[in-house]
Amino acid sequence: MKIAVVGAGYVGLVTGVCLADMGHYVTCIDINENKVERMKNGVSPIYEPGLTELLKKNLEVGRLVFTSDHRKGFKEVEVIFIAVGTPQNDDGSADISYVEDVAKTIAFCAESDTIIVTKSTVPVGTNDRLQALINLHKANDITIEIVSNPEFLREGSAVNDTFYADRIVIGSNSEKATKKMKEIYQDFNIPIYLTDIRSAEMIKYASNAFLATKISFINEIANICERVGADVEKVAVGMGLDQRIGTSFLKAGIGYGGSCFPKDTKALIQIAGNVAYDFELLKGVVNVNSKQQTILVDKLKKKFHSLHGKRLAILGLAFKPNTDDLREAASLMVIDELVKEGAEVICYDPIAMENAKQTIIHPQIRFAASVEDAVKDSEAALILTEWDEIKSIDLKVFTHMKTPFVLDGRNCYSLEQVKAAGFEYHSIGRSA
Ligand code: UGA
Repeated sequence: MKIAVVGAGYVGLVTGVCLADMGHYVTCIDINENKVERMKNGVSPIYEPGLTELLKKNLEVGRLVFTSDHRKGFKEVEVIFIAVGTPQNDDGSADISYVEDVAKTIAFCAESDTIIVTKSTVPVGTNDRLQALINLHKANDITIEIVSNPEFLREGSAVNDTFYADRIVIGSNSEKATKKMKEIYQDFNIPIYLTDIRSAEMIKYASNAFLATKISFINEIANICERVGADVEKVAVGMGLDQRIGTSFLKAGIGYGGSCFPKDTKALIQIAGNVAYDFELLKGVVNVNSKQQTILVDKLKKKFHSLHGKRLAILGLAFKPNTDDLREAASLMVIDELVKEGAEVICYDPIAMENAKQTIIHPQIRFAASVEDAVKDSEAALILTEWDEIKSIDLKVFTHMKTPFVLDGRNCYSLEQVKAAGFEYHSIGRSA
C-alpha cells in the first residue's frame, strides 16, 4: 500500500521505516530539510538500535522515500499517518497545533479519498475536532476519514516494540477505514484491538499514566524500604510473582523522565480537569516523581555539609539507557541542583554526550571522556542512567576517587559486589 507519514521524529520515522520493511511504499515527510537530506542518505537523525540498518535497506529497495514537500508526499497515497509532536503548554495541556496544521494541509492537498491515521498522542476528542476541521477545509469533493492509532513504542527499543508489540489499538468510526487499517497491519501478526476513536485516544493516556503510577508507587515503597531495612529489589520480585501485578515497571530509581510520561501524565490531569474531575491519584504520581528525581542530591547534602567547590561526577545523562535523549531526564534536575549548590560537575554518558554538550552549558559543568576520567579526583559519583557500560565496569575504579562515595540512582550493582570492592555506597530502597 502507498502510505505517507508526516513527522519524522521517533514515532514517525520508526513507523515509516517499519511499514516499509513490511512491504508498504512509504513517503516520510518532515519540514526540516536538513534532516530530510540526511535521511535520504541513510543517516538516522536519532540514536535507535536497529533503525539505521532498516532505513538503509528500505531506501535501497525503493520502498522508502523522504521529502519536505507535503503535496508531493501526499500524491497517490491512500493513507496518511500523522506523527508530529504534541508538546506541553505552560499549563501542562497538550499543544495540538502541529497536528491541526497537518490535518489542514491534508485537507488542502488531498486529491482522492484518504484515511488519516493519528499516531501523535492527542487529548480525547481531538480526532473528532480534526474531522470537523478537515470537512471545513477540504479542497476537493472527496472523503477523508480519521482513525486513532496510538503508539506504544519505547525509545531505545522502538524497532523491536513496533514489530513485536503486545497490541495494536485502532479507534475508528468507519468500516472502510477499519478494513484498510487491518490490511496495513496484517503481516505484523500482532493482536488488533478495535474500538471507538475516543476510547483509543484515552487508552494511550491511561496506559502511560498507569505505567508512571507503577514507577512512582515502587519508588515510594523503596523510600520506605530504606527506612525499615527492607530491600525494594526483593520486594518488587515478590510482588511481581503475582500475575495480577507483574514484574515490569517496578524498577525503583530516581524517577521517570523522557518525552512521554512527564508530558502525558500532566496532560491527562488537564484532560480530567477540563471535565471538572480532579485526578488526585495522578497528581500524586507526578509530585512523587519530581521529589524522587533529586533524592540523590538530598543524600549528598546529608554526607557533606556544603557542596560548594566539591567535584562531583555524574555517570549517565540520558533519561534511560540506549537513547541519547535528555528530555526531562533526571540528570538535568540533578545537575541544576548541584550547580545551584556551587558544586563542580563532571559528566559522562556513553551515547548522549553530543546532545548534552549542546543542552547543558554552564561554567561549573565539564565533560569527561570515560567513567575513569569522570570519577578520578571526584568526591562523589552519582549514577543516573543504568547503561551496560556503567553496570559492567570494574568497581575498582571507584576506589581511586578522592572520596570513594557512590550514590547509585539505578541500583546497578549488587550489595555483595559493592561490599567486596570496598567503598561507601548508597542506592535506592536498599540498606547498604
Ligand atoms: C514510554 C512508554 O513505555 C511507551 O509505551 C510509550 O509509547 C512511550 O512512553 C510514548 O508515549 O511515546 P519511553 O518514554 O520511551 O516509553 O520509555 P520507558 O522505557 O517507558 O521509560 C520511561 C522512564 O521510566 C525512564 O526514565 C525509565 O528510566 C523510567 N522507568 C521505567 C523506571 O524508573 N522504572 C521502571 O521500572 C521502568
